[in-house]
Amino acid sequence: MTIEDSRSVDSIVHDNRFAGEACNLLFSGISDMKQIIDRLEKAECLTRDEWILLLSGYRDEDRVYAAEKARRIAGHYFGNRIFIRGLIEFTGFCKNNCYYCGLRRENEKAQRYRLTEEEILSCCEQGYKLGFRTFVLQGGEDAWYTDARIEHIIRLIKGRWPDCALTLSIGEREEASYRLFYEAGADRYLLRHETGDRAHYGRLHPPEMSFDHRKDCLRALKKIGFQTGCGFMVGSPGQCAQTLAEDMLWIQELRPHMIGIGPFIPHQDTPFGQERAGDYQMTLFLLSLLRIMGKQVLLPATTALGTIHPEGREAGILAGANVVMPNLSPVSVRRKYAIYDHKLCMDAEAAEGLADLEKRLRQIGYETVSERGDWKGR
Ligand code: 5AD
Ligand code: SF4
Repeated sequence: MTIEDSRSVDSIVHDNRFAGEACNLLFSGISDMKQIIDRLEKAECLTRDEWILLLSGYRDEDRVYAAEKARRIAGHYFGNRIFIRGLIEFTGFCKNNCYYCGLRRENEKAQRYRLTEEEILSCCEQGYKLGFRTFVLQGGEDAWYTDARIEHIIRLIKGRWPDCALTLSIGEREEASYRLFYEAGADRYLLRHETGDRAHYGRLHPPEMSFDHRKDCLRALKKIGFQTGCGFMVGSPGQCAQTLAEDMLWIQELRPHMIGIGPFIPHQDTPFGQERAGDYQMTLFLLSLLRIMGKQVLLPATTALGTIHPEGREAGILAGANVVMPNLSPVSVRRKYAIYDHKLCMDAEAAEGLADLEKRLRQIGYETVSERGDWKGR
């Protein structure tokens, strides 16, 4: 064993949760992180023990190694082309009470709003002119938007812009509702699973929210035919290598078409207001691992990543991301969709700042394209 290896043994054995499994692995010879990353590239999956070892024992050089590999894979499938999605945050109401999110129902300071159908359509209109060919309708879990109302909006948007893809991100609903939305023409659905570890899910959510139901929703969405996206926050309170391993195992099982990850960022008016933000480099490393595992997966450099670092979006792309999602919501409501503190919603993060974003991407050798950007894998 080299000196470097023994450092990773130290960091693992001190965390006695992993000690048994990780040491077995180390002594069985799979001690080189780069070897594990190579195996991930080939097999597109790892065992729980390998994930724990990699996520608890990686060093800077392994991150760089993963980023280079991820960028090469993204380049192979997408060239230097970045897909853009116009994000419409159409309701700031939510019936849930997730401990981390500023839109939780018990946050009385949140300024709630709902866009009208006309306002939503005018966002699409503006987005279409700017070159967007995917619209993402995102909101809290807002019962005012009944299935019938959502169905109506889907039909309006798809009727008017049949060449565009429509993504929904409106949380957990019945399977029959999802089916209705799919039949009305919605193409994609984003529903972050938040954590793949049951106990950790319980730490992030009140008891009335169900880990199993969230997973069932994701399975149903995929079965119905949606291009389906899951995802999680990096560095949420209670997250560790073991819970992250469960995220990766769940992703291996679900095989989603899209994966959204970004650092956890505290919101002052939530129970997690005093917690630490997620780690920037760890987020980039995970993006790379997801690209290596998912190959053609649609992977955004998220707003949260751009919020914790001024060059977060660019770094995300250089780590393997291939999607950006500028904000198309009306300027008057943008600051109200505050899921965490200091969330970016202007300049390069905004649809009208697209030229600025494009310039920044060009500087790192990438260009945005005016296409739907569907999932093209098997
Ligand atoms: N920090 C980072 N991401 C958050 N989200 C919610 N609250 C936060 C936060 N404080 C993410 C969750 C959710 C999505 C809408 O935003 O993953 O699914
Ligand atoms: Fe609602 Fe989503 Fe925020 Fe949870 S994360 S409170 S479901 S908007």
